[in-house]
Amino acid sequence: MKITSWGIIGPGKIAHDFAKDLALLDPPQQIRAVLGHRKKTTTDFAKEFKIPQTFYSLDEFIKDAGIDIAYIATPHTLHHKQALACLENKIAVLCEKPMTINLAQCKELIAASKRNETFLMEAMWIRFLPSITQLLYFIERGDIGRVVSIKASMGFKAPRDPDSRLLNPGLGGGSLLDLGIYPVFLALLLLGKPDTIKAIATLSDEGVDEDCSILFQYKSKQHAILESSLLSQNEIPAEIVGEKGTIKILNPWFEKAQGLELDINDKGKIIYPCRWAGHGLHFEVAEVLNCIREGRISSDILSHEFSRTMISVMDDIRKQIHVTYEMYE
Ligand SMILES: NC(=O)c1ccc[n+]([C@@H]2O[C@H](COP(=O)([O-])OP(=O)(O)OC[C@H]3O[C@@H](n4cnc5c(N)ncnc54)[C@H](OP(=O)(O)O)[C@@H]3O)[C@@H](O)[C@H]2O)c1
Repeated sequence: MKITSWGIIGPGKIAHDFAKDLALLDPPQQIRAVLGHRKKTTTDFAKEFKIPQTFYSLDEFIKDAGIDIAYIATPHTLHHKQALACLENKIAVLCEKPMTINLAQCKELIAASKRNETFLMEAMWIRFLPSITQLLYFIERGDIGRVVSIKASMGFKAPRDPDSRLLNPGLGGGSLLDLGIYPVFLALLLLGKPDTIKAIATLSDEGVDEDCSILFQYKSKQHAILESSLLSQNEIPAEIVGEKGTIKILNPWFEKAQGLELDINDKGKIIYPCRWAGHGLHFEVAEVLNCIREGRISSDILSHEFSRTMISVMDDIRKQIHVTYEMYE
């Protein structure tokens, strides 16, 4: 695998995990530049990961960093502008979830990726985790029969911190885009786009959803019950119920799960532990590198179409719960 030169945009929490996991690839990837906001966090990040160049201007980063690919890990509302600038300059993009705030922005990025023949993928990293691969294997093998329903939720108690992006409407705050996207992803992966969506939410004083409860219904007699919350810690496994049994992705199901519990009706339970080095972000990077090596502009595993469907579903949910990001819509 060729060493690729990475630029990191947004040296925050997830970018730290990402930079550590890049070192797990063989050979390890080079991080050649970081584009940050505040000087201290940016220079500290550059020092920790031995990155030779620091930037504070997107234009200069694009022009001078000399990178093949940018990993974008800024607050949600910045993704579109930063990804677009990279794509228009033929720099490949791996962009954190949600790739954009809304469907219109997502369509623009996909069009730019096609126009510039430049790779673009949403960093929905859990799609590439061994736990999700194993889940798909059990389902495809027919272990639990036809999937009938999914229950999945993700939540934690967010601090009331005015500096935090989590409840800040100007930064795309709210539980749905930050956490609810994971349960939504799981339902779309296993059941596809729903025929009916119903959603309710508790809104903060700032007008973003502090929690959100979602129902997906399918004409095929399947459904999903999904939740996200910034009000309380949630340690519930994701549950996939089929006609012949149930699979639980044990907590924390949306990252390094303790394991998969396969419970085939009348046959008892087996737990398959999940173990891997690092956080697990290197699995998505391996897919990015394969796609780039093969000259593709998108991944078949996490396709442009999947991202488009996911954000259109989230637009629909936001409409129902009356959350808008006015500057962007
Ligand atoms: N945290 C997770 O576990 C996780 C997991 C998966 C995906 N994500 C996604 O990753 C993104 C970032 O999340 P996070 O939790 O890592 O947030 P975070 O800790 O707040 O980090 C965001 C980073 O972006 C920087 N930044 C802000 N404005 C910038 C600009 N104009 N140019 C360059 N950098 C800028 C911030 O710098 P300053 O601190 O100097 O302002 C900070 O370093 C979000 O979209 C989130 O959904 C997060």
